[in-house]
Amino acid sequence: MELRRITYENVDAVTSMSVRDEQQNFVAPNVASLAEAYVCVDNGYAVKAFALYEGDEPVGFVMLGLGYMGWSAPPCAEGSYCIVRFMIDQRYQGRGLGKKGMEACLEYLREKPLGSADKVWLSYEPENTAARELYHKLGFIENGEMCGEETAAVRDL
Ligand SMILES: CC(C)(COP(=O)(O)OP(=O)(O)OC[C@H]1O[C@@H](n2cnc3c(N)ncnc32)[C@H](O)[C@@H]1OP(=O)(O)O)[C@@H](O)C(=O)NCCC(=O)NCCS
Repeated sequence: MELRRITYENVDAVTSMSVRDEQQNFVAPNVASLAEAYVCVDNGYAVKAFALYEGDEPVGFVMLGLGYMGWSAPPCAEGSYCIVRFMIDQRYQGRGLGKKGMEACLEYLREKPLGSADKVWLSYEPENTAARELYHKLGFIENGEMCGEETAAVRDL
């Protein structure tokens, strides 16, 4: 599983990805996330978005950032990396790709691509059992903070 740059060649595949009906509230559509990523970068914030590839197949999407990104965030965001968006297309879920994709993201963040930081945080809807289980398995621990309606969780990089 690897993070690949979004290009003219794969942007349609990325924006065509979807999640199950019951997951619609858990993640923004990728086209909206790409628009937000553009706005962040254009306003000077540190954000990157990638397609997640299994072999030559684009199977998911991730948006990553460092520190404050222009919207209201919990205290743990200060000076930490954030996995802002993460999704595996519904056709590829349940095959271990979410875990492999997150591991690839953590490996990438350990290179400190946007600047120095020791921690990474993310957040999820309290009823998003799949995400919570996945993130717990990868060592994220809920720290009692909230990001709007979402539960925040943090781990060392
Ligand atoms: C959350 C998501 C990324 C998981 O991706 P996935 O490829 O299906 O996950 P994996 O197959 O790698 O599973 C890894 C672990 O996640 C957990 N998990 C995955 N699906 C689950 C489910 N339906 N119920 C409970 N736990 C689940 C399990 O702990 C699993 O480990 P196991 O296989 O050893 O039991 C995927 O369901 C998704 O894209 N959901 C919609 C978008 C979303 O919610 N993104 C996160 C926003 S915070």
